[in-house]
Amino acid sequence: MRMNFLTTNPFELLGTWISPILLQSFVVLMVALIIIGTLVDIIHKKNVKYFFENAKKAKKAATRELGSGERVAIVAKTVVYDIGTTSELGAGKRRVAHLLGMYGTILFWIASVVMIFLYSSPISQTPIVWPILWHVGGIMTVLGGCWFWFFLRVDVYSEAQPWYRIIQADLFVLALIATSLFGLIWSFLQTLALGERWDDKVFLALYIISNLVLFGGVYWSKFAHMFYKPGAAIQKNLAEADGSRDNLPPEADAPEQFGLGIKREVPKHY
Ligand code: HEM
Repeated sequence: MRMNFLTTNPFELLGTWISPILLQSFVVLMVALIIIGTLVDIIHKKNVKYFFENAKKAKKAATRELGSGERVAIVAKTVVYDIGTTSELGAGKRRVAHLLGMYGTILFWIASVVMIFLYSSPISQTPIVWPILWHVGGIMTVLGGCWFWFFLRVDVYSEAQPWYRIIQADLFVLALIATSLFGLIWSFLQTLALGERWDDKVFLALYIISNLVLFGGVYWSKFAHMFYKPGAAIQKNLAEADGSRDNLPPEADAPEQFGLGIKREVPKHY
């Protein structure tokens, strides 16, 4: 009987010929690669050192002390609003594409971990919600990532470069799209039960390789922005509330008169 791929746990089928321990070890290796890549990045760029020194310096310029309740409220609001809705991208397609990719990836990763650690042995009964979340998350990531890469990234959108020009900055988004896309195709082919044929194994190999590139490439890619951006958003909002404003001058108390020229074109040449 043909299985519905959206509701089938691909790791359970894989668990019929690969030990679940091996799958779990792969996840642990990926987490280790994220930690190592991010730490080496932090040591090399000295960005976190700068961040804390800057925050300490700015604190001296604070005009008021924040109570712990107030701090918790600011952090909570930042997590829910600034980070949860990627508010720094403003209104528009850039933000929608990012939200699709971000939540798609989060669903895909959480469902992967749950299915690999709890339901990857051939005798397990996977609650239907997990494979659905995994496949929907993968589809969202492919849609959001492709929308961004083909149409919205700065080189194409603002610098008139052709869409097929690939540079190192594309490593993260392309590896992210590849993991979801190859994972989805592998899962689909597996449910066709093609027997001795190698189709699903080829895509399983591509899925593994793209994961190694995504997680092994943290040092060279933009992967770590998902940790840096939230930290920076929290610091910015705390600095605004305590009056230190990161040592920046306050906004001018004057009407916003920029002349009509500013309306001529949507700003996109950064
Ligand atoms: C699972 C978490 C996340 C994923 C998978 C993700 C994914 C991505 C991807 C694929 C890009 C395009 C990278 C490129 O420039 O080539 C990107 C850019 C960006 N991300 Fe994230 N992101 C995540 C979390 C966050 C968070 C938490 C924030 C902010 C609070 C954030 C803010 C941004 C910004 C501002 C850009 C630049 C967007 C642009 O150039 O249009 N991201 N992200």
